[in-house]
Amino acid sequence: MTQINLDSLILKTDNTDFNQSILGDGGMTQHTYAAVILAAGQGTRMKSQLPKVLHPLAGQPLAAWPLNLAEELRCQPQVMVVGHGSERVKAAFSERDVQFVEQREQLGTGHALLCAAAALENFSGTLLLFCGDVPLLKKTTIETLLHRHHAAGAAVSVLTTLMPDPTGYGRIIRENGAATAIVEEKDASSEQQQVHEINTGIYAFAAPFVFTALRQVGRDNAQGEYYLTDIIGIARSQGKTVCAIATDDTDEAMGINDRVQLAHAATLVRRRINEQLMRAGVTLIDPATTYIDATVTIAADTLVHPNVHLCGTTCIGADCIIEPGAVITDCRLGDYVHIKSGSVLTGAEVGNGCTIGPMAHLRPQTVLVGNNKLGNFVETKKAVFGEKSQASHLTYIGDAEVGKNVNFGCGTITCNYDGSNKYKTIVEDDVFVGSDTQLIAPVTIGRNSLIGAGSTITEDVPPNALALSRVRQKIVPGWRNRKPKTGK
Ligand code: UD1
Ligand code: CA
Repeated sequence: MTQINLDSLILKTDNTDFNQSILGDGGMTQHTYAAVILAAGQGTRMKSQLPKVLHPLAGQPLAAWPLNLAEELRCQPQVMVVGHGSERVKAAFSERDVQFVEQREQLGTGHALLCAAAALENFSGTLLLFCGDVPLLKKTTIETLLHRHHAAGAAVSVLTTLMPDPTGYGRIIRENGAATAIVEEKDASSEQQQVHEINTGIYAFAAPFVFTALRQVGRDNAQGEYYLTDIIGIARSQGKTVCAIATDDTDEAMGINDRVQLAHAATLVRRRINEQLMRAGVTLIDPATTYIDATVTIAADTLVHPNVHLCGTTCIGADCIIEPGAVITDCRLGDYVHIKSGSVLTGAEVGNGCTIGPMAHLRPQTVLVGNNKLGNFVETKKAVFGEKSQASHLTYIGDAEVGKNVNFGCGTITCNYDGSNKYKTIVEDDVFVGSDTQLIAPVTIGRNSLIGAGSTITEDVPPNALALSRVRQKIVPGWRNRKPKTGK
């Protein structure tokens, strides 16, 4: 029986002493790190036109997760091995500090890493290997892996875990506690298939060693591939130290192969994000149905109702209330902001003390300076509102510059588009716009003026004036009592 008691090998990831000694000035030798992220596989089981590593998880593509980790660990260089859909993958990460190498034919994980050899020719530190489809790894786990790797003077350290159902994973074979091989499921004997300790696909390597050893890897196995896992046996045959270090958090090691696993990972990561926010002072009424991207920040004492989506670079201040059904993407909200049910905000800046919705739509480049109120069915786009200006009902304000203390009556519309060009509306401080008014841009409404309800404003209004453009009401007495004409 190959199963052994792994308790002594399970790493604990909450030991801060470890972390300090790895990356800080904790007295250990300073190590240099590089990272390779394998992302050339097709991801057939996703059944998608989109390369697997670009499927989003909590707002970021799958491969961004190991890339973030490499960055946090200050790996330099960071190399991504791309193949399937390489143009799209490269485009998705073009802003990142990452080098791309092409693996034209997907001949296996060993071959994939070998493709990065030239990019790391001059690197002689510790190489971290990540898979583009394993997103949930924690930084502390990798730090502990590195600590053990260095402490043992290992040539190869592999991160393992005990999977309740190890199907599909490479199995860790140990003799007297020491890892001697990783056997892929398809190559494993029935006895080896009983092993629950699996290869997560995450490794630390001594860089000069790994590329020379990889050249000895053959493809004499069930899949006819160059297996990276063969490097364990090669290291041992050269008398080098191999470490297999288990993490007790199996979720971390989860690889994403299909959309069921993607949804499961999203649930796990959502819990992680939401718990972190709650511990930092944010109230989530029902964390299971609150969808917050990993990139979002929220200050303490903000209350988030169920079925809210907070996405992208959104950052929310303190003491806000976000009601059910709000969808907020790439926005900045100050403190004491109240977003009512069903509001959609994209690319907007909302100052302190604003109240938005229910069912308001703030589109990109909306800027509310503070204490503004936008009520139900109000839409804004590329519009700046000064302090305390408001539109409480059924209003569209686009391409506009609005001063302080402006009131838009119900049904005000800026007519900013003539079918080919967009024009600007300027509304100065203290203006009162009566209900059902159309402001035909370009137009300027001078400060403290009053627009009578039902007006169509086509010309500039001077300060302190009354502008009224509706036709005079006509009364025809008794109209309804007239006898109909007989036609004869
Ligand atoms: C691999 C490991 C297995 C481990 C599992 C963990 C090997 C031989 N097997 O198996 O022991 O339990 O990961 O998830 O290493 N890739 C390339 N080029 C290739 C092949 C793969 O870039 O030619 C990339 C894939 O895009 C993916 C990663 O390498 O990001 C892993 O490849 P995959 O085919 O999923 O390996 P597994 O069969 O899951
Ligand atoms: Ca996989």
